[in-house]
Amino acid sequence: MYVIENYSRLPVSFVKGEGVYLYDEEGRRYLDFLSGIAVCSLGHSHPKLTPAICDQAGRLIHVSNLFVNPWQEELAGELVKEFWTEGRVFFCNSGAEANEVGIKLVRKFFRDRGENRYRIITFRKGFHGRTYGSLSATAQENLHKGFEPMLEGFDYAELNDIDSVKRMIKRETAGVMLEVIQGEGGVNECDPEFLRGVQEICREEGILLVVDEVQTGIGRTGKFYGYQHYGIEPDIITLAKGLGGGVPIGAVLARDEVAKHLTPGSHGSTFGGNALACRAGLVVVEEVRKLLPHIREVGEYFRRKLKELGTGKVKGKGLMLGLELDRECRDIVLKALQRGLVINCTAGNVLRFLPPLVVEKEHVDEAVSVLKDIL
Ligand SMILES: Cc1ncc(COP(=O)(O)O)c(C=O)c1O
Repeated sequence: MYVIENYSRLPVSFVKGEGVYLYDEEGRRYLDFLSGIAVCSLGHSHPKLTPAICDQAGRLIHVSNLFVNPWQEELAGELVKEFWTEGRVFFCNSGAEANEVGIKLVRKFFRDRGENRYRIITFRKGFHGRTYGSLSATAQENLHKGFEPMLEGFDYAELNDIDSVKRMIKRETAGVMLEVIQGEGGVNECDPEFLRGVQEICREEGILLVVDEVQTGIGRTGKFYGYQHYGIEPDIITLAKGLGGGVPIGAVLARDEVAKHLTPGSHGSTFGGNALACRAGLVVVEEVRKLLPHIREVGEYFRRKLKELGTGKVKGKGLMLGLELDRECRDIVLKALQRGLVINCTAGNVLRFLPPLVVEKEHVDEAVSVLKDIL
């Protein structure tokens, strides 16, 4: 055994995927309602994504960011097109990395004006990644244990409690960072009034609003970006997961006035936004745009079917759904796996469903019937 054992892995090894199905070494078929944790947005072996990746691999994979990159330019343009205002994009390789840039950019925005504002308000049960900045932003002390001290400058407020946000505002506060639906924390939705309140506080205080769209972005919730459900206008959003459909890529989108503070030499990434990753991202964005009504329709159907199970609380939007139970759910995940259904359990007692965005109602029926048996 040579791989570090930092994961508690489930006892199956997948060797092939097709659409919403995965296959193990024995050729057994599994219905994938996890998509590699919201990553394989178009499912597996997609008829447009796979050929595009193969074609790009046959031409050019990587040259570094020392050179002009037309694939980045094109993908950035597509991401900005969906944003509420003019903006620019920085490409990296993962969600944690994107959030690092979000944090750095918030600080740089104020440092460049000579203002000593650097503190960021984040939320209990939130999750922003495992690197030091993103981990410090993650208000879950159990994840900090053994790695202290954390990066200085984060204040933790309660989700959906606007007074707790107001109480956290200090002279040094530079921004607020949140997920509109907390993924790892248990599929916890923000109330629309709460989000509008946060936006108002940011405007009044002249501080930046950062929305971590690593899990909610790129169609997952039925809108291109999750924040679009709530009528808010973030200064920065961070993306990763579904953007590359399985090819690692992350991105930070900031409105122009903020983005210009990431000046030459202030930040960088060797791999970030290479030709292969951006080419994959371009196919994903094009396909996801067409899928948005489908995601909303199948998501609503799935939500109804989960409610009909008559157990637990159904949470989430689009195809980012959770079923909160009154007991631990890891054994349910195992039982589902034995019956050929791949799901996940988060926050201890929330069954989490993140199927590929191409999932159909008949697949939902299949998954719900397995769940019904188990529950
Ligand atoms: C909202 C959110 N932000 C950040 C991350 C970290 O992303 P990555 O694992 O790609 O670093 C995750 C991962 O689960 C996430 O859900």
